[in-house]
Amino acid sequence: MAAGFFISKAVGIAGIVLALGAVATIIALSVVYAQEKNKTSGSGGDTTTTTTTTATITSLAPNTTAAPNNPWNRWRLPTTLKPELYEVTLQPFLKPDNNNMYIFKGNSSVTFLCEEATDLIIIHSNKLNYTLQGNFHTSLQAVNGSNAPAITQTWLETTTQYLVVQLAAPLQKGQSYRLFSIFTGELADDLAGFYRSEYVEGNVTKVVATTQMQAPDARKAFPCFDEPAMKANFTVTLIHPSDHKAISNMPTESTQQVQIGGESWNVTKFLTTPKMSTYLLAFIVSQFDYVYNDSGKVLIRIWGRPEAIKENQGAYALQVTGPILSFFEQHYNTPYPLPKSDQVGLPDFNAGAMENWGLVTYRENSLLFDDAYSSISNKERVVTVIAHELAHQWFGNLVTLRWWNDLWLNEGFASYVEYLGADSAEPTWNIKDLMVLNEVYTVMATDALTTSHPLSFREDEINTPAQISEVFDTIAYSKGASVLRMLSDFLTEDVFKEGLQSYLHTYSYGNTVYTDLWEHLQQAVDKNNVLLPGNISTIMDRWTLQMGFPVVTVNTLSGSIQQSHFLLDPTSKVERPSEFNYTWIVPITWMTSTTSGSRYWLVDVSDTNSSFKVDGSNWLLLNLNVSGYFRVNYNQENWDQLLLQLSSDHLVIPVINRAQIIDDAFNLARAKYIDVTLALNTTQFLGQETAYMPWQAALNNLQYFQLMFDRSEVFGVMKKYIQKQVKPLFEYYKNVTGNWTKIPDGLMDQYNEIIAISTACSYGVPECQELATSLFKEWQNNSTNNPITPNLRSAIYCSAVATGGQEAWDFMWDRFREATIVSEADKIRTALACSTETWILQRYLQYTIDPTKIRKQDATSTINSIASNVVGQPLAWDFIRSNWKLLFGQYGGGSFSFSRLILSVTQRFSTEFELQQLEQFKADNQDVGFGSGTRALEQALERTRTNINWVNENKESVLAWFTENSR
Ligand SMILES: *[C@@H]1O[C@H](CO)[C@@H](O)[C@H](O)[C@H]1NC(C)=O
Ligand SMILES: *[C@@H]1O[C@H](CO)[C@@H](O)[C@H](O)[C@H]1NC(C)=O
Ligand SMILES: *[C@@H]1O[C@H](CO)[C@@H](O)[C@H](O)[C@H]1NC(C)=O
Ligand SMILES: *[C@@H]1O[C@H](CO)[C@@H](O)[C@H](O)[C@H]1NC(C)=O
Ligand SMILES: [Zn+2]
Repeated sequence: MAAGFFISKAVGIAGIVLALGAVATIIALSVVYAQEKNKTSGSGGDTTTTTTTTATITSLAPNTTAAPNNPWNRWRLPTTLKPELYEVTLQPFLKPDNNNMYIFKGNSSVTFLCEEATDLIIIHSNKLNYTLQGNFHTSLQAVNGSNAPAITQTWLETTTQYLVVQLAAPLQKGQSYRLFSIFTGELADDLAGFYRSEYVEGNVTKVVATTQMQAPDARKAFPCFDEPAMKANFTVTLIHPSDHKAISNMPTESTQQVQIGGESWNVTKFLTTPKMSTYLLAFIVSQFDYVYNDSGKVLIRIWGRPEAIKENQGAYALQVTGPILSFFEQHYNTPYPLPKSDQVGLPDFNAGAMENWGLVTYRENSLLFDDAYSSISNKERVVTVIAHELAHQWFGNLVTLRWWNDLWLNEGFASYVEYLGADSAEPTWNIKDLMVLNEVYTVMATDALTTSHPLSFREDEINTPAQISEVFDTIAYSKGASVLRMLSDFLTEDVFKEGLQSYLHTYSYGNTVYTDLWEHLQQAVDKNNVLLPGNISTIMDRWTLQMGFPVVTVNTLSGSIQQSHFLLDPTSKVERPSEFNYTWIVPITWMTSTTSGSRYWLVDVSDTNSSFKVDGSNWLLLNLNVSGYFRVNYNQENWDQLLLQLSSDHLVIPVINRAQIIDDAFNLARAKYIDVTLALNTTQFLGQETAYMPWQAALNNLQYFQLMFDRSEVFGVMKKYIQKQVKPLFEYYKNVTGNWTKIPDGLMDQYNEIIAISTACSYGVPECQELATSLFKEWQNNSTNNPITPNLRSAIYCSAVATGGQEAWDFMWDRFREATIVSEADKIRTALACSTETWILQRYLQYTIDPTKIRKQDATSTINSIASNVVGQPLAWDFIRSNWKLLFGQYGGGSFSFSRLILSVTQRFSTEFELQQLEQFKADNQDVGFGSGTRALEQALERTRTNINWVNENKESVLAWFTENSR
């Protein structure tokens, strides 16, 4: 479950929610279980009705006095036994039982090989309630017909999540045995293991039984050796209501109808899977429909709610899946390993996507796409998430990392090749370029802090379910993707592919550690005589075994070049030692205004290179297309030459590097390597820029200036400056789109049109606001016919609400109440926070604690939207302070949104007065507490202090700069 199925930043956050939830559940469970054990030993085992999650049938645990080193107290399985085949039968009940509980019944046998004689069987089992066979949880047979050793004792270890079987004599090495058990479990709505998901159709609530096994939750569905290296074949049988369909990793082998308790059920048996890991199993019982394509070698089906499928929302996924599968077959030089590919969109409250082999599950909005309501970014999300999950069908599923400590390779790889797969399906989009903004620059923000961590963990550092959950973070996904992209770039993609293919062929159906990939890449390097300054592992160790990344500084007067560890806060202390002293082996591509040379390797702290010495009228640019994972700084003269080039003819510099110059400069200024005015100077050329990436890079960075200054006199001149810069862009798109009637062609162009409108309207360009108002009027006159294209809705709605007063707000509120498409409702809900009227925002805040107006799950994000509005921010802060008890009671338990709430209402804090308020708030609520927002509160205090310093140091020069440049 642990966030492993989350592939983007936004969704990664949801993963942490789940992870926290899981830890809480585990702790709660052991408490309940302890009580339960007392009860059963006293009264003879009365089953409680409120906690089916506990094992109510237990034989006594062995009387070993506190020996924590017993094998069942260790988190990792012993290596004595190796599973070969599971035969699992599960029957989910989609209606509550007499105790108003949703449950499933099951039985399973596992055949395993004894690799080392042992009188203990230790197998994972969590929250399952066993039916005793004789006196024991399970029974044992030898596969060859001889007698198995007798069972003397069985018990459950709830902390380590084991079922333990003690035998009278050892199992024999080389012999196979079969362990059989019968159990029930709760079909809870906890998104873990075999769980329940619900949706409403017409006015009927429908229940779906589905699974999420990653990371350690297969053990919640049936007893299993639940580690990724314990691969086995699985034969799954589902017993399901006859009016529900059942699907699993493999195609159906047979289905037959039976009567059980006067009801009609089907017993559906699936073909046996190839050898695979438990975390990739999946099965779903639902009334979903599908669209399909069986014209290729592999049957492709896209599943979803019948209403969504009827509205053709599966069409886009179906259209891109075939090309993406073909792309990966070629990329890996390996056929798709299974006979079919099912992809299922689950109702919206689920989050993320999961690469289960042959049966990928998605949050609905990551698979289904509605042309009439969804924007281009919704579409980009669908194609990239699909490509990510399909990439795992080989890398991850066919060949699997041995243990979770190497997760970064699995997720980093998929996060890298998802762009290649998406590019094959949408070749006109240039989507690969977006990696720089979405992965590289996003993760650098985290990786530039002293609290970051290396990509790679030692195997013995990751043991508990909580530790496993923690490795699913942005470092694993986005830094993993960034360094693999760099590796592929300096090897060339063909050599990278050659090594990759040989790795996949060698380890199919098996497990690896990350150095196995390095080894096969090295073979390809040797075969192709690629010249490198060391072997692959020597180079890559610097990037995977130490956290952070370098800033490379060149002086073009002397040609000297040096590297140092880039830290966003230059005063922070690095406490984590590195055997490489925070130096890297850096592959550097470069060009000057007159030449571009071959790759240069910086292998020491400093060096000189005559190519980097350029005469005063030329410039030097490092890290072309940001293929390397580092930042670049220059001497002032070279910065000046680059700026001169940007202002005279910016197209000479590649588009990704135009974004790089901006992003590097602003970050270097934050870290005090350069002056803030130099960073601001890099935005001067935007008046002539029509490409998306430089604009997005600038707006990402100017966001901070807006937050710090939008309540001060700086904002007046800042606004004037941005208006001046964005007006030409607005005009450009007005022409390109025939006065806003056509949608631009490419992905980047569509994104930049959105930027043109949202920036122009929110910074008060009158023509933009008039446009928004007139489109909005048109809609108001005929509310059933929305004339605004989905791409522009968020921006236009916001502008119309901001300028339209109560009338506009009430109209939007009515549209919100009647919206049936979630993505549309979300756009409206966010736009409602754009009002500039205090009383309207005040009322809207009240709505957030009224679940008949704003659904509970949307409350905190609505408050966040209000707080991001400069007028709403103090209201939201007052609101939170006066409703702290209530909010804490509802959201404080284990939800990540709670810490987001604290961070978002305080994000503008930059004065001593606000710091005092925040400290007061902390003191006042010590009794209530801050729950999952505790760390966020500390971060908010820390950030406020940093902001105070930053504003003190920079306000004067920023004010002067904007004043000078807004003329
Ligand atoms: C809602 O339920 C009522 C009966 O309770 C039924 O008559 C009506 O047709 C249902 N509406 C829909 C849209 O299914
Ligand atoms: C249930 O089994 C019957 C008989 O084999 C079959 O015709 C029917 O399609 C099955 N229904 C489902 C939903 O699998
Ligand atoms: C188990 O999987 C392997 C492939 O990993 C396959 O060759 C074998 O036939 C499978 N066993 C069964 C019983 O299906
Ligand atoms: C790191 O620094 C130590 C002490 O200065 C030195 O002995 C060691 O060789 C350095 N390691 C690397 C990889 O530069
Ligand atoms: Zn993934």
